[in-house]
Order: sequence, then C-alpha cells, then structure tokens
Amino acid sequence: MAKGKLSPFWHAVAAYLQAWTRTPTLAGAVRMAAGWSSSATARPAVQSSVTGSPNPLQKYFEAHVEGRGIWKWNHYFEAYHRHLNKFVGREVHILEIGVYSGGSLEMWKQYFGPQCKIYGVDIEPACQAYADESVRIFIGDQADRDFWKRVKQEVPFLDIVIDDGGHKPHQQIVSLEEMLPHLRPGGVYICEDVQGSSQRFADYVSGLVHSLNATSISKRVGAELASAATPFQAAVHSIHSYPFLTVIEMTGAPVGEFVAPKHGTQWQPFL
Ligand SMILES: C[S@@+](CC[C@H](N)C(=O)[O-])C[C@H]1O[C@@H](n2cnc3c(N)ncnc32)[C@H](O)[C@@H]1O
Repeated sequence: MAKGKLSPFWHAVAAYLQAWTRTPTLAGAVRMAAGWSSSATARPAVQSSVTGSPNPLQKYFEAHVEGRGIWKWNHYFEAYHRHLNKFVGREVHILEIGVYSGGSLEMWKQYFGPQCKIYGVDIEPACQAYADESVRIFIGDQADRDFWKRVKQEVPFLDIVIDDGGHKPHQQIVSLEEMLPHLRPGGVYICEDVQGSSQRFADYVSGLVHSLNATSISKRVGAELASAATPFQAAVHSIHSYPFLTVIEMTGAPVGEFVAPKHGTQWQPFL
C-alpha cells in the first residue's frame, strides 16, 4: 500500500467516526424541522405538475374501484411518475416486493406497456396466483439473502425495484443491499413506508447520502477542481427523500470524476 494511503478498513473506520460525530447535526436538523415556520408568503412561481403532464398512475389508481386490490399512499404517485416515466413504452424489467392482492402488478403493466417484464415477490404462497405470461412471482422472505441469490440467478438484471413488502428496517436494508447493485445503469430503486419504526432504514440511507458526498479534491491546470468518483459515486446518481418514501437513481453511465471548471475571464481577487 502506498505511503499516506488508507486501507479500505481504515477508510470505513474514518467514515464511521465521521458519521458518528454528525449525531448532534442530525438532532439540530430534527429540531429545525419540528419548529418549522415559513416566511415565504407569496404565491408559488409555478403551479404545474412535476412532469408537466397529467399523472396516468394517479388516474389509474383513482379509476380502479373494483378488481384486484392496490394499496398505496396517494402522495406516492407524484414521485413514481417523476422517476419512472422515462421507462414508459420500453422493455423495462421491474420487481415489486409485496404483491398482496395483485392490483399493483396490473397497474405497472398498464403504465409501462406491453414490453415490460414484471416480477413480484411475496412471503405468502397465495400470491403465486398472480403469475401470468408477463408476470413472474417468487415466493420468499425479503430478509433472506439466500432467497435473493436464487432470484438473481433467475433474473439477470432489473431496471426498477419497488419495496412495498414487510416494511421492517432489517427487511428493507437486506433487500436494498442485495438488489440495488442488481439494477442496470439508469435504474431506479424505490422503498416505500420508511416512516415510523422504519426511520432506521432512513438513517441507513442517510449513510448512503454521506457516501455520495465523499470527496478527494485535487487542483488542475487553470484552477479546475477535480474529485475522483468512488465506485459508489460511479454507480449511484442520486438519492431522493419524500414523506415515507426513498428513491435512488443509478447513473446512466459510470462516472469517472467530478470536475468544477472555471468559465469566464473576469474574476474577483478574493478566491
Ligand atoms: C402492503 S402489502 C403490498 C401491497 C401491494 N404492493 C399494493 O400496492 O397493493 C405488503 C405485502 O408484503 C408481503 N410481505 C410481508 N413480509 C414480507 C417479507 N418478509 N418478504 C416478502 N413479502 C413480505 C405481505 O405478504 C403483503 O402481501
């Protein structure tokens, strides 16, 4: 190992200590949110929906008053459409953990179109009933790593994972650790119901956010800043939090480094 370089073990120790010292900052943020008050009384600059089009998932859900049951928080539909509409009409491979009464699998099929391939995972054998020519069901426990190994042997890659299963933090963490690295570039991982006792999953995700901000800055010609991407940064594009919902987007192509070039000829002398 080159002098001055930390081994992966000491990197992990340093990252852990850094995260641990952030506890007071986290408490400060919780205090800020608890005492929230806004000074922006003006009307919003824009009123339109995030994607600029009506939300077909919301429409489908509202119109679905009979048949196979779907159980979603209403406000999830905005986030789904924001992050998933790029896959509509494509040959997209989606896996939902938590089949329950089969209605959400039907909704995904309708939303993504005839080319999509759907996988459902549930611990209840009765859910096998929802398998058909475009839907494959795996029966197993999402907290069991051996179960995921078997799934990955049968499903070579995925574009979307939606975790709407048992909603316990240990289940959500095992599923994410096993299945996030199984997403193709550009893929999207969604974990539902991270509120309440599942805040521990949200805390885990804040460790991922921490890792997304890791940096090793060097200066190059023309004062350009560069920071080599870690393997995690090369693969993970962004992490989004909504009430009760976490969304992780993968990069479309691996990122080698982040650069901050300076453009322009007129500069203040103070930096
Ligand atoms: C909230 S329901 C899913 C709702 C469905 N996705 C929908 O939108 O209508 C949760 C499902 O997760 C399943 N489940 C619970 N614990 C599980 C586990 N450990 N592994 C896999 N599935 C589990 C339950 O059997 C149940 O069918």
